[in-house]
Amino acid sequence: MNRKKGMGMLKGSGWPLLMLMMLSVGKMAASSEEEECENRWIHIRKLPSRFNLDLLANCSEYPMLDDLCPYLGNHGLGQKTHNRSRSWYRTDPSMLELVFHRRMLEYPCLTQDPLRAKAIYLPYYAGLDALRYLYGSESNFSALHGLHLFHFLHQDNPQIWARHMAHDHFLVMARPAWDFSQPLTNDPPFWGTSFLELPQFFNLTALTLEARAWPWQEHAVPYPTSFHPLNLGLLDSWITRARRSKRSILALFAGGGGGGGSSSPNIRRSIRSECENATSDPSYEKLCEIVDCSNGVCEHDPVRFMRPMLQASFCLQPPGDTPTRRSTFDSILAGCIPVFFEDLSAKSQYGWHLPENEFEDFSVFIPKEEVVFKGLRILNVLQRIPRSKVRSLRQRVLALIPNVLYRKHDSSPGLKAKKDAFDLAIDGTLDKIRSRVQELHSVI
Ligand SMILES: *[C@@H]1O[C@H](CO)[C@@H](O)[C@H](O)[C@H]1NC(C)=O
Ligand SMILES: *[C@@H]1O[C@H](CO)[C@@H](O)[C@H](O)[C@H]1NC(C)=O
Ligand SMILES: *[C@@H]1O[C@H](CO)[C@@H](O)[C@H](O)[C@H]1NC(C)=O
Ligand SMILES: *[C@@H]1O[C@H](CO)[C@@H](O)[C@H](O)[C@H]1NC(C)=O
Ligand SMILES: *[C@@H]1O[C@H](CO)[C@@H](O)[C@H](O)[C@H]1NC(C)=O
Repeated sequence: MNRKKGMGMLKGSGWPLLMLMMLSVGKMAASSEEEECENRWIHIRKLPSRFNLDLLANCSEYPMLDDLCPYLGNHGLGQKTHNRSRSWYRTDPSMLELVFHRRMLEYPCLTQDPLRAKAIYLPYYAGLDALRYLYGSESNFSALHGLHLFHFLHQDNPQIWARHMAHDHFLVMARPAWDFSQPLTNDPPFWGTSFLELPQFFNLTALTLEARAWPWQEHAVPYPTSFHPLNLGLLDSWITRARRSKRSILALFAGGGGGGGSSSPNIRRSIRSECENATSDPSYEKLCEIVDCSNGVCEHDPVRFMRPMLQASFCLQPPGDTPTRRSTFDSILAGCIPVFFEDLSAKSQYGWHLPENEFEDFSVFIPKEEVVFKGLRILNVLQRIPRSKVRSLRQRVLALIPNVLYRKHDSSPGLKAKKDAFDLAIDGTLDKIRSRVQELHSVI
């Protein structure tokens, strides 16, 4: 029943008004849920704990990695940065699988009935399960990653998978897609598992931290940052702080690489040499600053880079081992305008969260080839941007903050009413699945 009909019932009826109002309020609540959830119902597939919670028990089993156990706390947000912190956590981005699962449990349009659902969520911690192939004892069997899941889905209620041939299924894989896309024919195996190369999984949608250049299954979602506010007040006071912060540094690079070692030219090396040789500019206390994050020292210590980012106008986001960086999202949170050196770093990745056609309104693009091979100076480019343009870029960056943060689970209703990175990922996934399923049935 829709809202208009509900109101219509009030007219000319002899029922006591209070009762009518109660009835009508009840109906309106139910009907507004129906309306809100129409085309948005999601079913969480029940998986045995070996596909999720059991994997957490091995958090310290991978000697090549940090001990991951401290980052499991608070449903994957990690420990608070310090006891009195309200919104800041030592978040490891690879815990997005847990964070997402926890948020799915409070998604308002869950259904127990898979036939009613527009999408089926698989609470499989794919990236955590990949660790034994990437870093553990099963590195020679990386083509097997995920097959146990496939077998389970085929044995237990196979009709759920079969209904749309898995075109309506999705999961989170909290690593770059490169880590899951090793061709099956590689022998001996090189880096990565073959999850996304298996024909068994061609039809599902995977939310990754970085997508390949021509993705089919996957779509990139923001790396989790360390900021997970619980209510609107905490979010607004952070945005106010970022807006008012004095920007005394023109350009900041927080990261590693580009030092000593290899002598081949690359963008991080160019940034280092330019930054070390920077002269002065009357409008800034410092033209350029580097926060040295070598050896992962910044990863779980956000204060190291958030303080400087609050003081900088521009934050340089060069590609590293892969094109994307968590730092892009940290800098947006800080109101520091991101500077990209290739489109794969964000523009062709995060279209659900950072609108592709608005990049020039909130970021600066300097092609890396121009810098590395043609001597273009990054600082000169940035110095030439007029102050008024810098202000409008920053306004747009600040407006993007809600899009890129993952709020804490169980937040206040006021904050829930704003779409965060999780909500936008769900919107994008539902759209993608809708068009896939339509296509599937129109072909048949
Ligand atoms: C955890 O590690 C142990 C020993 O390496 C292994 O036998 C077990 O299968 C692992 N558990 C999971 C759920 O991967
Ligand atoms: C922080 O809280 C924990 C547990 O409540 C306590 O054990 C620890 O001593 C506290 N640390 C500081 C620095 O207050
Ligand atoms: C993987 O296979 C190679 C070559 O067969 C072998 O040398 C290596 O020890 C194997 N690695 C593991 C972890 O079993
Ligand atoms: C994937 O979908 C196609 C149709 O689009 C279908 O032919 C194929 O069997 C599906 N694969 C799996 C593993 O369900
Ligand atoms: C920056 O200074 C270093 C020495 O400190 C020098 O080797 C390098 O060529 C300079 N780079 C530029 C771009 O001027």
